[in-house]
Amino acid sequence: MKRVAIFISGGGSNMVTLAESMTGDHPARPVLVLSNNEDAGGLKKAAAMGIPTAVVDHRPFKGDRPGFEAALQAELDKAQPDILCLAGFMRVLTAGFVEPWKGRMLNIHPSLLPKYRGLHTHARALEAGDTEHGCTVHEVTPELDDGPLLGQARVPVLTGDTPDSLAARVLEMEHRLYPAVLRRFAAGDKTPVVLP
Ligand code: GAR
Repeated sequence: MKRVAIFISGGGSNMVTLAESMTGDHPARPVLVLSNNEDAGGLKKAAAMGIPTAVVDHRPFKGDRPGFEAALQAELDKAQPDILCLAGFMRVLTAGFVEPWKGRMLNIHPSLLPKYRGLHTHARALEAGDTEHGCTVHEVTPELDDGPLLGQARVPVLTGDTPDSLAARVLEMEHRLYPAVLRRFAAGDKTPVVLP
């Protein structure tokens, strides 16, 4: 059985769908949900599901990214995960943290990468006049929102869409895509998942 840690910063809806998927014949189980924000709504949801939680507040480490990342790694050392899933974790991780996790760390990003790395992806897709948008799960490498693709899901952009309405449509697909990718990845298969 593979052990999975999930990093979050906010509501944790992707974390919930990942955690809920890891039952029965799934080859992995959640062993830790960690947030950089003690107020992250996802922490309570994880605790309610019986998953151990941890908080590493980034603020005391202002100007000291290696210190922050060492504290993250210390929590991982305790939980001993095989796979690390970033799920709405809104801190940039440097090569010093990422390299040792090479091939074992996943991220979900709300755009059809390589389009729209970084923030405000939905507004940028609307501004560009895109007719389709979506989400991507990829292996994490030191470059931001880069790394081998593990899955992609598309949604249409509809007339009258706002960043919020588009984000909601994409989030529904995130909740289908990430569990599908994790199941395959945990079984040792890196073939990209394509939805719908
Ligand atoms: C999701 O849309 C995720 O793709 C995005 O944050 C949201 C988290 O929602 N991630 C990023 O933008 C990473 N740069 P959640 O906390 O409900 O899963």
